[in-house]
Amino acid sequence: MIYLDSAATSFQKPEAVSLAMEKALQSMSSPGRGGYPEAMRAADTLFECRSELAELFGAENPEQVVFTMNATHALNIAIKSLVQPGGRVVISGYEHNAVTRPLAAIKGVKTVVAAGPLFQPNMVVQAFDRCITPETSAVICNHVSNVFGFVQPVEAVGKLCRERGIPFIVDASQSAGMMPLDISVLGAAFIAMPGHKGLYGPQGTGVLICGGSMVAPLMEGGTGSVSIQQEMPDFLPDRLEAGTHNMPGISGLLEGVRFVRKNGSEEICQRERQLALRASEGLRRIPGVVVCGRRDLYAQTGVLSFLPEIMDVEEMGSELSDRSIAVRAGIHCAPLAHTTAGTLETGTVRISFSCFNTKDEVDTFLNAVDQILSKKRR
Ligand code: ALA
Repeated sequence: MIYLDSAATSFQKPEAVSLAMEKALQSMSSPGRGGYPEAMRAADTLFECRSELAELFGAENPEQVVFTMNATHALNIAIKSLVQPGGRVVISGYEHNAVTRPLAAIKGVKTVVAAGPLFQPNMVVQAFDRCITPETSAVICNHVSNVFGFVQPVEAVGKLCRERGIPFIVDASQSAGMMPLDISVLGAAFIAMPGHKGLYGPQGTGVLICGGSMVAPLMEGGTGSVSIQQEMPDFLPDRLEAGTHNMPGISGLLEGVRFVRKNGSEEICQRERQLALRASEGLRRIPGVVVCGRRDLYAQTGVLSFLPEIMDVEEMGSELSDRSIAVRAGIHCAPLAHTTAGTLETGTVRISFSCFNTKDEVDTFLNAVDQILSKKRR
């Protein structure tokens, strides 16, 4: 199988990830709940993973790193910590349902969309500049659009927020492990990310990096600390981590993060961008294909959407699947991004790379698209 759906989950993982998961199952119990070796081993691994993530994302203390189930869980904590009923929130035009649905669930929230055209980062900054007012409770922007791979100008948006004293939430779902991101430089209140995409951990892992804002627990329960007290602990990470941790997942994530740090996020991103560029150039040569992307990839990562003009996107996805090529087709849980880009009616076919993809795989994919469209025309 040729796997081109790493924006959903990176499927090929470094071997050390599954080995660590198996080892965790065999040798770890609940961290922070005992002084015996199995519990201590779990606690040490938890701390090591927090420390690696803190270093990668510029957090001063490992305690600022909170483990979650996925990026959606992390975003829910961030949003519900900062946004009260009736609040006003400014979001980018490329947000995922993981942002828009939690906002819609808070009573009376006014969501203002700072929409800039695709691959025009300067216009995105101008849109935020216009939309942020003193009444804004929070600003939310993804670093990279999950549909189009558009790299949004989070540094500039973060600067606007700092100047106006508005808390800033960054959704790093498509950039964590691929693009540098430093919470102390951004001055963000939160950075949310999955463990199972660019950090090469398993599904069921996510991370919330906390920048020092107020945090509200989404769940209450045991933490192994201040057990007499009936309120959740007032310190991180315990305040946000009720219940036993996913130790096999976090052990795998630790190895994924080590792999990323060893190979270099920027190097990984560059490789994926080159593959996306090859794919986009190849797709442009196929009659009847519209590529949602720029030729220079200046504002784009290894995520690329396209439209086969004479065919439904789902049909293209299914034809590719019949040829053992895994892509995602449709709306990608991001109707807002499609509305902003003008592709809501059709959706798109999306390909997305990891560091394990090759040029040969791109060429096989391009031949398959060409063949599918030729067959359709006959
Ligand atoms: N949000 C993920 C995607 O874009 C699952 O496919």
